[in-house]
Amino acid sequence: MSEPPQLAKPVTIAVRDVWKSYDGQPVLRGVRLEVLAGETLVIIGGSGEGKSVLIRQIIGLETPDHGEIRLNDSTVAEYRRLPMEEKPFRASMVFQTSALLNSLTVAENVSLALREHRSATREEIRGIVRECLEQVDLAGTEDKMPAELSGGMRKRVAIARALAVRSDLILYDEPTAELDPLLTEEVGALIRRIQDRRRPTQVVVTHNLPLAREIADHVAVLRHGEIVDYRTGDDFFHSEHPHTRNFLRAARVV
Ligand SMILES: Nc1ncnc2c1ncn2[C@@H]1O[C@H](COP(=O)(O)OP(=O)(O)OP(=O)(O)O)[C@@H](O)[C@H]1O
Ligand SMILES: [Mg+2]
Repeated sequence: MSEPPQLAKPVTIAVRDVWKSYDGQPVLRGVRLEVLAGETLVIIGGSGEGKSVLIRQIIGLETPDHGEIRLNDSTVAEYRRLPMEEKPFRASMVFQTSALLNSLTVAENVSLALREHRSATREEIRGIVRECLEQVDLAGTEDKMPAELSGGMRKRVAIARALAVRSDLILYDEPTAELDPLLTEEVGALIRRIQDRRRPTQVVVTHNLPLAREIADHVAVLRHGEIVDYRTGDDFFHSEHPHTRNFLRAARVV
């Protein structure tokens, strides 16, 4: 029997009045948002509304022009400045395009961050990689190259990589983009399983409403650079907000 999974460390996110422009064009215009420890927040919005931009500010790949984002007691910038071994929790991002390194095998891709994060022996790393690939239903693919995998498999390898470092915060940008309905369901089930096992804090950007229904504790709707609607996962599908109604209707959910 495998050991019971250790619960993730609690991580809260506070997005406070965040503004971001490119070439003078505002994309985020005063975004405010709280994500509770251990919950899964889904960010919904049309194409080009700034979802990827927002998630890039949250993980600290870019810095807001104004406002701040805190992960527990630190700003994102302070968190990122800490050396790996001093970070109080672990954060990972699953990118819109899976961002695997094509010259590395599946096993090397999965263990990449792991080797940066902690000192484990080769044997331990092999064991963790095996376990994480099993969790995403890719047992035995260690020696394959990314080019040999389907889009859905690559996405699952990217998720296995986040699992390998036992992330306490996982951000997903369109985890089901370009996947067929069956794989979409699989990735949804996988995110759900991660929730159930370790309860990391998760932020999932998507315009896939069935996925939102499957995984969301809360849903935030981004439009014209602001959060215009914010509800529990259940309430969202009954929202009276006009934009949300239109969105749901266009997706034929209501
Ligand atoms: N680095 C950048 N430089 C200039 N403009 C940018 C940059 N990144 C994003 N933008 C602009 O910001 C806007 C929002 O982009 P973003 O990628 O966040 O959209 P999105 O909501 O993720 O859309 P999609 O659902 O298609 O992924 C777009 O108009 C885009 O052109
Ligand atoms: Mg995007």
